[in-house]
Amino acid sequence: MKQACINSMQYLGALLATSLVTQSAIAMTPQEQLGRFLYFDENLSINKNQSCASCHLPTAGFAEPERQLPVSEGSIPGTFGSRNAPSASYAAFFPEFTLKGGIQGGQFWDGRATNLTEQAKGPFLNPVEMAMPNEAAVLLAIETSSHGYSALFQQECGNDAFEHAKTNFQPGINNAYHCLADAIAAFERTDELNPFTSKYDAVQAKMTSFTAVEEQGFNLFTGRAKCTHCHSLGNGKDKDLFTDFKFHNIGVPSNPELIALAKLPSDFKDPGLGGFLNNPKEIGRFKTTHLRNVELTAPYMHNGALTTLKEVVHFYNTRDIQGKWPAPEIRDNMNSSFLGDLGLTDEEEDAIVEFMKTLTDGYIRQ
Ligand code: HEC
Ligand code: HEC
Repeated sequence: MKQACINSMQYLGALLATSLVTQSAIAMTPQEQLGRFLYFDENLSINKNQSCASCHLPTAGFAEPERQLPVSEGSIPGTFGSRNAPSASYAAFFPEFTLKGGIQGGQFWDGRATNLTEQAKGPFLNPVEMAMPNEAAVLLAIETSSHGYSALFQQECGNDAFEHAKTNFQPGINNAYHCLADAIAAFERTDELNPFTSKYDAVQAKMTSFTAVEEQGFNLFTGRAKCTHCHSLGNGKDKDLFTDFKFHNIGVPSNPELIALAKLPSDFKDPGLGGFLNNPKEIGRFKTTHLRNVELTAPYMHNGALTTLKEVVHFYNTRDIQGKWPAPEIRDNMNSSFLGDLGLTDEEEDAIVEFMKTLTDGYIRQ
């Protein structure tokens, strides 16, 4: 009797979660709907073959679906950027970049875009991403898009937006382009990108429980393996996001495959935060990623140097053991307090991986 009651409660919970998700999709504001159109429109790239979703695909945890390569190919075949595409989901929880009270927040691996709106202005014009020649060209591609949302765009961003693009009226173009980026940011803040429907969330809501191995992994993650020193609990309003929003150098080795694809000099080292701030004191530091859907977003780290979650955990466990790993890409600022020689067994490494797999969305709807 008690069991049946719990089961029906679980069913109700699942039903509620499902209907909430559907409702929120229907209840999107016009601005969020516009953002959704823009996010999925491949017409907004030079060869009409690439949208934001190409490198941030929903079924790949809103990251790059091509797992065999460390970096994404642009709209122009054969062009590659120099960093691994991170997840665009849950990015909305990162605060605006700030130097006050300790550096934190911002978008991109080095925090150089203050917020989601500023971030969204970049990819359309980046020559190794969507490669459009200028803002006006993006606006004109919206007007003629086969997805048919030009009226919605005019309604949200001004009736004269396309006219400004045609007459090259730069202040008008700038306004419309800012409005476009704002709409994408609004979409990125919706439940579609931030569903919190993982097994972990179900466990938190007492709808189910961890397996013994997942539980062991969680206890290691928050305990002896020291992960929560950086991938902290909390920070997602009332949910756990697994990031401190800060920047650290964990000593990832450089990735020769990336260097070859992006046609970089063979001794290339990514300065991370130090490059953005033009401050050698911050060199080698990258943003602590949130770990939601991390099962789906391989390869890992800013340069895609680690290919599986097992390899990631093994790296944290054994980085400082002589002869185990190639030299770090950058040695300055490398953190040695919380990682490098954790003394975990092979089985404990596996348990941490199993725990991280509970962070994959879609569990609650099943
Ligand atoms: C060709 C692949 C590609 C395309 C297309 C692309 N991105 Fe990205 N995205 C990346 C890469 C690579 C990074 C990391 C770059 C860096 O840190 O310097 C990134 C970073 C981001 C981030 C920051 C996430 C974080 O945790 O810091 C967001 C948000 C994002 N992209 C959204 C978008 C949106 C919106 C679009 C469309 C307007 C888009 N991307 C188009 C590859 C792409
Ligand atoms: C000192 C802070 C720190 C600690 C401790 C730490 N991490 Fe990280 N983690 C980071 C940073 C920073 C990055 C991004 C580094 C980069 O790309 O160079 C990262 C990246 C990752 C990634 C890759 C995410 C992606 O999308 O590419 C995973 C997975 C991960 N950490 C899991 C763990 C686990 C598991 C532990 C504990 C065994 C742990 N981390 C401990 C700071 C930390």
